Amino acid sequence: MNNLEEIAWLVNRCADCELSRGRNKAVPGEGSPQADLMFIGEGPGYHEDRLGRPFVGPAGQFLDDLLMSIGLKRADVFIANMVKCRPPQNRDPLPAEMSACSKYLDRQIELIDPKLIITLGRFSLTRFFPGETITRARGKVREKEGRWIYPIMHPAAALHREENRSTIVSDFKEIPRILERLDRPSSPLMEDQPVEPQKATAPQAQQLSLFSS
Ligand code: URA
Ligand code: SF4
Repeated sequence: MNNLEEIAWLVNRCADCELSRGRNKAVPGEGSPQADLMFIGEGPGYHEDRLGRPFVGPAGQFLDDLLMSIGLKRADVFIANMVKCRPPQNRDPLPAEMSACSKYLDRQIELIDPKLIITLGRFSLTRFFPGETITRARGKVREKEGRWIYPIMHPAAALHREENRSTIVSDFKEIPRILERLDRPSSPLMEDQPVEPQKATAPQAQQLSLFSS
């Protein structure tokens, strides 16, 4: 798979797992091939499956608003999913489906080579940090496999619950500052050891010290 177009071509014809049977359109992912930021969601829902594009339903509208809140547009970033075809009735993707599909996402990450990967929700979190919960992992930048990962909640989970909504909004607002830190070769963030998830009592205070010096 030499470029993103080729990946999309293959995804649109893929029958490597059961999800190929129920799809209308596969959703390879889209955005800038030079993106600094890459977002990874779970899988297509109803609207995505109709249009063949990621995050175009209500959760996607919210993601657009979040991007706008930090001065970005969809075309500035790359948006992909763990599985490229819609699970029936929006059920959770199965481990076998995610592993059948991971070759596409892995290659998208290699080709785009983003400065920061933002995982949306628990499935993409688990791709990098197996066994961790979103409650503990969200809002903390950590290095994994030579890449910087910033896990946040899924916008669909935040859409209708005010407490989640304010959490995702404030996690999002950190993104420009994180990118700025990653651009500075001697940033404290780069020198730090990977940060362990903090205790539920004081996660923000601990983590912010990484960015405040
Ligand atoms: N939810 C996701 O995880 N991905 C999409 O593309 C749309 C909704
Ligand atoms: Fe292929 Fe992925 Fe779609 Fe399964 S979900 S059929 S592996 S593109």
